[in-house]
Amino acid sequence: MKLMILNGPNLNLLGIREPAHYGKETYEQLLEKIEAHASLRGVAVTCRQSNHEGDLVDWIQEAYFEGYDGVVINPGAYTHTSIALLDAVKSVSIPTVEVHISNVKEREDFRQISYIRAACVDSIIGHGTAGYLEAIDRLIGGEEA
Ligand code: DQA
Repeated sequence: MKLMILNGPNLNLLGIREPAHYGKETYEQLLEKIEAHASLRGVAVTCRQSNHEGDLVDWIQEAYFEGYDGVVINPGAYTHTSIALLDAVKSVSIPTVEVHISNVKEREDFRQISYIRAACVDSIIGHGTAGYLEAIDRLIGGEEA
């Protein structure tokens, strides 16, 4: 099984960026945690981050063409704006889990909309960076997990 783990804008600044919302763990530490978890579970992961919406669309399409079994995505602020990301996930029909480190449900009104959510098999919200590991387990477990 191989999974693509995608992070959107400003998530490369984890550890620096608003630690009250996103914690003190750096993006590099998050990657180490994801890779250790994936290796424990026996799945291959490709982790990518971009500040550009089109890169995320390209990588979702690549996940399809390269035969990935699932996608974990934290689209960052594009969660609340991007119909292109929604369409990309709908287009490829790869099981996709949306992750948010912070509890967006308890934040500003503009964070209450998630366009991509409608195309995702699950959303893991407000569990900190552990949410990425839960998302991996959710994809390994399939629809019933
Ligand atoms: C986020 C929440 C978004 O509202 C925000 O724009 C982010 C990070 C999260 O992980 O909590 O960039 O997706």
